[in-house]
Amino acid sequence: MSNALFRTKNIEQSIKDTEEPEHSLRKSLSALDLTVFGVGVIIGTGIFVLTGTAAKNTAGPAVSLSFVVAGVVCGLAALCYAEFASTVPVAGSAYTFSYASLGEFPAWIIGWDLVLELALGTAVVAVGWSGYIASLLDNAGWQLPEALSGRDGASGFGFDILAAALVLLLTAILVVGMKLSARVTTIVVAIKVAVVLVVIIAGAFFIKSSNYDPFVPKAQAVEAGGNLKAPLIQLMFGWAPSDFGVMGVFTAASVVFFAFIGFDVVATAAEETRNPQRDVPRGIIGSLIICTTLYVAVSIVVTGMQKYSSLSIDAPLADAFKSTGHPWFAGLISFGAAVGLTTVCMILLLGQSRVFFAMSRDGLLPRFFSHTHPKFRTPYRPTILLGVVIAIVAGFTSLSELAELVNIGTLFAFIIVAISVVILRRSRPDLERSFRTPLVPALPIVSVLASLWLMLNLPAETWLRFAIWMAIGFFVYFFYGRTHSRLAHEEKASVK
Ligand code: ALA
Repeated sequence: MSNALFRTKNIEQSIKDTEEPEHSLRKSLSALDLTVFGVGVIIGTGIFVLTGTAAKNTAGPAVSLSFVVAGVVCGLAALCYAEFASTVPVAGSAYTFSYASLGEFPAWIIGWDLVLELALGTAVVAVGWSGYIASLLDNAGWQLPEALSGRDGASGFGFDILAAALVLLLTAILVVGMKLSARVTTIVVAIKVAVVLVVIIAGAFFIKSSNYDPFVPKAQAVEAGGNLKAPLIQLMFGWAPSDFGVMGVFTAASVVFFAFIGFDVVATAAEETRNPQRDVPRGIIGSLIICTTLYVAVSIVVTGMQKYSSLSIDAPLADAFKSTGHPWFAGLISFGAAVGLTTVCMILLLGQSRVFFAMSRDGLLPRFFSHTHPKFRTPYRPTILLGVVIAIVAGFTSLSELAELVNIGTLFAFIIVAISVVILRRSRPDLERSFRTPLVPALPIVSVLASLWLMLNLPAETWLRFAIWMAIGFFVYFFYGRTHSRLAHEEKASVK
């Protein structure tokens, strides 16, 4: 039985599966499409919303260092992702990679984990989007009834109708086809990047050097009683829970890490790329470099414009301009953020429907979900199912705790990918790798340790929630996936 858990899917078979007409996706994306795709999904709620929270509560102006820390962790992981994506160019990202290297059970864990990352990530961004739209509507003098804005303050029933509506609309667009969404994405990404550049360039004129003092605020003890909310590392070593200080930089890094999520999604589109071997690594690394540079610049500017303790939680970039007496800029930024978050949501939704699709094609989830649409050639069944579920989750939940859960899941996936690079080098040295991770095994080992470090800086309660989600996953695998897997059937057939 332990062999069954670690049976691996043949890599040549993985590639061949994608060529069966009924289960195949159209190959239409180039390296530039992928980079636009990457920037489209990476810049979002993280920089537009979480920068304020992280600076105000845990890091002060040193939040820019937190972005550097998170960017380095992602860069290490990206170098590992890129090797896999260029070797196994099949839909499903880390899930597919680990199926080919570690075995079925680890692959299941990673796929289950990715569904959490991408589905909840979509919900987080949809809720952030709805906040910006609500604030724009508010400028125009319109307000939704409290029960339909779903904010934390709503008494009794609260459903975020805007967030849910966005998810449903994007689901429909994705069902109709990749081409349309890629074109829309390009325009929206241009608007979003332009707005980020406006923040950096215009904001630089309003920086006051006194706002950078202190750059790393002194550590402050957090009131006792909130133990589950404290980072696990502080509890493990019996430290008194604290914010700010050097540890605060790392706590903030584990939160703003959300701002980088998405570069791995570029790898999930490998199967739809014309020349995956060359273009996927370029798309992943290119988009990560662009985003890290922009994030560090934005956070330096914003914490220079306004004292970190006065930054707003809901719309820190726009409100920093209001604080300097420039509401016109603030309106422009809110508009750009709302437009930009739309693509983030769409690409996360796309990524997770592809992972679900790949898992069902392998029989780990019902095969019903692996049939592509006869006309649009999109995996419409998982797209619709998950779109509806996410719309409901986005309608009923609030933002920050979900974001932390998404982060822990993603970091866990990074660890498995880094380990897989090393294993696959040993088990299949013959495979052609158009991109090779440098310094193997040292770099993957450092990547594992760096991801683990950020995970340990997340609250204990996030670990608990993650453990519950994974326990449900084990249950589903042992009672469904293990026996229905396509590999299990093939094994049986070859024994007969
Ligand atoms: N990185 C994406 C964001 O910040 C998910 O919204």
